[in-house]
Amino acid sequence: MVKILNVVGARPNFMKMAPIIAAINRRSNEVSQTLVHTGQHYDKAMSAVFFGDLGMPEPDINLGARSGTHTQQMARIMPAFEEVVIAQQPDWVVVVGDVNSTIACALVANKLNVRVAHVEAGLRSFDRAMPEEINRLLTDQIADLLLTPSKDADANLLREGIPAERIVRVGNVMIDTLFQQIGRARDSAILNELELRPREFAALTLHRPSNVDNPEVLSRICSALGEVARELPVVFPAHPRTQARMREFGISAPAGVRITAPLGYLDFLRLWSDARLVLTDSGGLQEETTALGVPCLTLRENTERPITIEQGSNRLVGSDPARIVGAAREIMSNGVSYAGRAPELWDGHSADRIVEALIARARSAEIINSDHSAPTAPLTPSGD
Ligand code: UD1
Repeated sequence: MVKILNVVGARPNFMKMAPIIAAINRRSNEVSQTLVHTGQHYDKAMSAVFFGDLGMPEPDINLGARSGTHTQQMARIMPAFEEVVIAQQPDWVVVVGDVNSTIACALVANKLNVRVAHVEAGLRSFDRAMPEEINRLLTDQIADLLLTPSKDADANLLREGIPAERIVRVGNVMIDTLFQQIGRARDSAILNELELRPREFAALTLHRPSNVDNPEVLSRICSALGEVARELPVVFPAHPRTQARMREFGISAPAGVRITAPLGYLDFLRLWSDARLVLTDSGGLQEETTALGVPCLTLRENTERPITIEQGSNRLVGSDPARIVGAAREIMSNGVSYAGRAPELWDGHSADRIVEALIARARSAEIINSDHSAPTAPLTPSGD
């Protein structure tokens, strides 16, 4: 039996882990799993609602990290996760994405000589001012198995000296969730609740520190959104970080921009998939809009997901009002349309490929202890 410890921590992790859990369940005669939630995100709207929407089991263990500086968050996660790994003695720790929980748990597993698999490996924005870029670089350097969504990710890893045999291209696991849930999202009443008609509004998300932590940048973006909203209402499910910054800086939403609480997966999927246009600084939404061919303007100067521009419906517009408004007008005037064109291996079967790779590697490395309760070399933290 291959024993897997799955880690989630923050909102963008849940839609990546849900299909992996389901794929492991389909092979439950060969693999067992435990789900650890670090508690980095803890509000119902940022966490619990996703477990219901995505049909995920409750976490077996919650480490209760909660808010704080990034260092405080990681410092709370690491010793708590270390105890779990020592108690569980897994064959694999599986981490997803690029949040603080990802690197914190990967590092703990590495220190305990437990193999780490990183799902969504190899993405690079080449912008080291982004906390997520550092998390991605460090996690990939210590991961034993790098499960990538696309060719560009493989190329990044090879360039950084990661041996080719550690890299397996599995496609985009978040698109597994998208394809599985799109039918259920049709039943969401969110458009009725907000009195919106399909294609007659824009959907917005905004939470990157580079956009919301600086009052000048945030005001500039808000003025652009105000311009867009004169022609098309903008619906903005706002992240707690952004709501807090807007209050702190005394910036209110411009006329026509409607702020809501963060939405669950199904309501949000219904919202953005029926939007005329998406404006965002999220990573995942660039990929999701690409898979369904919804026009997306990314309010950043770079992206770790270039395939969404080369093959998808995404365009970088930064935080300059003229660029944002100009690009939005082109879309609003029907000057731009895209067919939904999912890149290679974004086919809804990535999780099965991930689980196959985990099982095959575990077997070939002969790391499966026939009796986990009596390992030959018990895990202990080094240094004591
Ligand atoms: C984190 C991730 C980011 C991801 C984002 C999605 C890192 C470095 N960043 O950023 O990659 O795109 O999540 O949401 O890991 N807060 C709440 N309730 C919660 C969670 C957070 O109120 O459930 C508040 C915190 O108190 C804090 C702010 O939101 O004020 C930021 O939360 P934090 O988890 O530090 O980072 P995010 O900005 O959410």
